[in-house]
Amino acid sequence: MKNKKVAVTGGLGFIGSHLVERLNENNDLVIVDNQSSGNIKNIQDLDFSRIDTDFGDITRVNLERIFEDVDYVYHMAAVTSVPQSVNDPLRSNEVNITGTLKVLEAAKKCGVKKLIFSSSSAVYGETASLPISEKNPVNPLSPYAVTKVTGELYCTLYSEIYDLPTIALRYFNVFGPKQDPESQYAAVIPIFIDKILKNQRPVIYGDGEQTRDFVNVKEVVDANILAAESNETGSYNIGLGKSTTINYLFEMIKETMKKDIKPVYKNERPGEIKHSVADISKARSLGYSPKNDFTDELTETVEWFKKLN
Ligand SMILES: NC(=O)c1ccc[n+]([C@@H]2O[C@H](COP(=O)([O-])OP(=O)(O)OC[C@H]3O[C@@H](n4cnc5c(N)ncnc54)[C@H](O)[C@@H]3O)[C@@H](O)[C@H]2O)c1
Repeated sequence: MKNKKVAVTGGLGFIGSHLVERLNENNDLVIVDNQSSGNIKNIQDLDFSRIDTDFGDITRVNLERIFEDVDYVYHMAAVTSVPQSVNDPLRSNEVNITGTLKVLEAAKKCGVKKLIFSSSSAVYGETASLPISEKNPVNPLSPYAVTKVTGELYCTLYSEIYDLPTIALRYFNVFGPKQDPESQYAAVIPIFIDKILKNQRPVIYGDGEQTRDFVNVKEVVDANILAAESNETGSYNIGLGKSTTINYLFEMIKETMKKDIKPVYKNERPGEIKHSVADISKARSLGYSPKNDFTDELTETVEWFKKLN
């Protein structure tokens, strides 16, 4: 993508800041982010002559003014954690549903070329068949998952009745540098790395034989760019297409960090799904082709965390 004007809601967050970094090379950017979980530090090394920022809340700022002359809108801002949505469903509804609707409405009024919505594999919940294809039924098991299903439905509706091209990317478990380990809602990879760096024993819930599909953030950025440039609409799985157990993940991280630490096993957390792996054949039709460099990507992630400590 070159010489475009691109808006990124949530552009100071983990995934958003990587997308902003990539697009900053050749495009003008406008970021809307209230820094509730993201941070301006995530993009501090970039060329600010081509970046505008608005630190407002997507539910309150004047999005029509912000999206003026914008070619593409990446909508990534959200209450991003499942437990957070369980603790405060009204807030996740406000940001993830009302906020998404406001973003869609402004994008429609401004005539943007396409809106790319960050959805989640959480829409599938516990699913009967693996690998999970987009044909599997949605089965939301948390307020967060309900907001993502609803966001997708609104995207489809805006494409159908208002001619606003939209596409939804259902990310699986994304990892990489800049993922926050401190938040009480942090993801498993940053938590494991952070604990091991501090010579503490990370907790594994259940027997550790549950599986996830871990995909590097660079692949997710690629998928986002391909999604904007393609004429396709609808929902697409974005994962690696490979399942990893939490026990194996722990061993890999321990080995990468050359530390001999044992995890602490605790009771399974209620509502957690047992297995997840993406069927990515639909995304491959967009040109998405993730590399299977898990070891190198973990090493890069670990190195980034070491610099923080
Ligand atoms: N990280 C993953 O593994 C993963 C998996 C599936 C889906 N997703 C989705 O991808 C998107 C990006 O996730 P992330 O991991 O980068 O999370 P993140 O929390 O790092 O980023 C979200 C960003 O949105 C901003 N934000 C939140 N509420 C806002 C509001 N009301 N107004 C303006 N800005 C607001 C936050 O400050 C943050 O910068 C989210 O929509 C998330 O649901 C992420």
